[in-house]
Amino acid sequence: MLLPAESQLQFTPDMSICRILNGMWQVSGAHGRIDPAAAVQNMFDYVDAGFTTWDLADHYGPAEDFIGEFRRQLVATRGAEALTSIQAFTKWVPQPGPMTRPIVEHNIAISLRRMGVDTLDLLQFHWWDYEDSNYLEALTHLSQLRDEGKLKHLALTNFDTAHLHIITEHGIRVVSNQVQYSLIDLRPEVRMVPFCQENNIFLLTYGTLCGGLLSEAYLGQPEPRSGVLNTASLRKYKQMIDAWGGWELFQELLQTLQQIATKYGVNIANVAVRYILERPTVAGVIVGVRLGVADHHTDNARVFAFTLAPEDHEHIQAVLVKSHDLYHMIGDCGDEYRR
Ligand SMILES: NC(=O)c1ccc[n+]([C@@H]2O[C@H](COP(=O)([O-])OP(=O)(O)OC[C@H]3O[C@@H](n4cnc5c(N)ncnc54)[C@H](OP(=O)(O)O)[C@@H]3O)[C@@H](O)[C@H]2O)c1
Repeated sequence: MLLPAESQLQFTPDMSICRILNGMWQVSGAHGRIDPAAAVQNMFDYVDAGFTTWDLADHYGPAEDFIGEFRRQLVATRGAEALTSIQAFTKWVPQPGPMTRPIVEHNIAISLRRMGVDTLDLLQFHWWDYEDSNYLEALTHLSQLRDEGKLKHLALTNFDTAHLHIITEHGIRVVSNQVQYSLIDLRPEVRMVPFCQENNIFLLTYGTLCGGLLSEAYLGQPEPRSGVLNTASLRKYKQMIDAWGGWELFQELLQTLQQIATKYGVNIANVAVRYILERPTVAGVIVGVRLGVADHHTDNARVFAFTLAPEDHEHIQAVLVKSHDLYHMIGDCGDEYRR
């Protein structure tokens, strides 16, 4: 089944993306064993179905190499023209410290080589420590590398609104910020979304399915112990649910989502993705893919088959008002990563 036209978004003047991106943290090794050959074969299924956009990072194990191998196989089996149908968004997550031009250039060259490209479609920059202002130097060099053709577009991940503001004030152009955004974690709505609306910056979201917790698989289930949660993603977002309001309230949310899902003939995961996809400034929701292990792409295609009605929002809101204020507890986007 091919995705409908509305699954695509004109992300930049030169690039259209699928609004459900395939997230590759799940091949890093922290989510079970991945067989490289099966994983790359599985990538064809996603792209053939219309899920053409990949989210990866320099530190997601073999993710960048998988893109390189997938591209080689795509050319070998379908010709070079087939490459124009895919987009691969990587990240650079350096340790804080000096950010000279040779350091920046060297690291970008590694991603270019691994992915087998002359130009990165999108480079999303992460920074661990705001007290080290070298992030501005890194971004200045990255902007130059973009202007020289090493990247098509520059973006960020996990920056908070205050630092996104500083970056834009420095005249550094970024097209998007990748942040955690879900029915459980609505922190972006406090400051990030309004700022992005004013400054024409897109959001790409992760954690939108809470690693799979936002699905029928956990509806009516007793609270899982950490030993049962077999991926890094599930463990991470279970902690987020604990902070948000706990398992009992989460069950109430799952029940509400199921009632909405039943109305549209879809499932809980579809409603959870659709909810975030309909928020302002959200260009796309990244859904993690355990390539060659579990494949939900046919199911996730249904996200584009319905829209949420005002009464659905009211029912969801009636549960969300009972949750804790994560912005107050954790801070703005990405503050959980700051030392
Ligand atoms: N910038 C950052 O700091 C950052 C941080 C985290 C993630 N990310 C990005 O975001 C991506 C998403 O990762 P995430 O950890 O946030 O996970 P997620 O997308 O919230 O959850 C992914 C998991 O959800 C389950 N799933 C997917 N579709 C489903 C469906 N229709 N029904 C039921 N379950 C479904 C699958 O579980 P099973 O495989 O078990 O079936 C899948 O592995 C990552 O790969 C990465 O690209 C970025």
